Amino acid sequence: MKRLNEIEWEKFEALSLEEKRPYLERVEGDGMPYHTLFAQQFDRPVLERLCALANRIRFINKSKEGALYLKGVLAHKRAMLYFSQPSSRTFLSHLAACQILGITTGSVRDAATSSEFKGESREDSVRTFSSYFDMIIMRSPEQGLAERMAWELSNSSRSIPIINAGSGKDQHPTQALLDIYTLMRSFEEKGGLDGRTVVFCGDLMRGRTVRSLSYLLTDFRNVRQVFVAPQELQVPADVVMILARRGIDFEVTDNLREAVKSADAVYMTRIQDEWDSAKGASARIDTSRFKFGAEELKLLKPDGCLLHPLPRRDEIAVCCDRDPRAMYWRQMRNGMWIRAALIAATFGFEKDIMSCGY
Ligand code: NCD
Repeated sequence: MKRLNEIEWEKFEALSLEEKRPYLERVEGDGMPYHTLFAQQFDRPVLERLCALANRIRFINKSKEGALYLKGVLAHKRAMLYFSQPSSRTFLSHLAACQILGITTGSVRDAATSSEFKGESREDSVRTFSSYFDMIIMRSPEQGLAERMAWELSNSSRSIPIINAGSGKDQHPTQALLDIYTLMRSFEEKGGLDGRTVVFCGDLMRGRTVRSLSYLLTDFRNVRQVFVAPQELQVPADVVMILARRGIDFEVTDNLREAVKSADAVYMTRIQDEWDSAKGASARIDTSRFKFGAEELKLLKPDGCLLHPLPRRDEIAVCCDRDPRAMYWRQMRNGMWIRAALIAATFGFEKDIMSCGY
């Protein structure tokens, strides 16, 4: 068992994500993460356990007795939601997940209301939170910040787990979990996710959800990945390299309609123009062919599905919303259940919940 407090930061930082994984697991050795920082921490057995736990939690929660049982599971824990970047769904679904499990929460959503505004470092802010809380769920525009904070906390006298709720343009592991959970549920009674074709479309260069989900899909057998984007926003080299190294069948194209014809799932994303280096740079890119509307819907297989991490702009036409293949609303709700499962597992309550009498 490797421990994060037994390795220097510089040495840890230099490891590959796969090499970092064992340092981030629970010391109890049940394969579940202690800190959740990136998608590479989840292999297929762990994904399947988390999805089963999410299914179990949503089932238990249906009855009042079950919901009250769940509220007692982590009633002795407090979580801090530290979001220094805009968020609706990720914030609220983590909050709701905590509420389901009886966790008391606190939040900072704007650095202007915390001592960071007075010049306090993020390290000091996070250490402060760890004095009052038992877990930190954090979103930050800074790539790698959650990782650095996890190391800091594990090397402090009060180590508490960190969940990365989105870091820079880099990773969004809990979004990838809910995307996988949604895909697994969508294909559950149709032969499963293995052997499917998943089409990603939009801003693949700067969308962190794409990087995390693309990696998780490599845990499944023969899942083909197709990347559809204008050249300027195509999937970055590091993602392509991972796919090539893992022997994944993938294609890079700018033809959405052709890609949709072969798709089992289409994952649309918005243009992430908040990262533009020059104001208005994204607006100059022609994105008109990278939108999903009535015509694309006609091309999608009858048992295909349409996903989006949300928020959307005009990349999925509202007329698609009522189609049974449109999964994005369900996907959003799935996020609450899989995050509840992840939090329960992080605190070591997987077995209790799976074997309780409800
Ligand atoms: C995504 C994000 O923040 O990366 N949103 C989310 O968490 N559901 C996608 C986006 O902002 O486009």
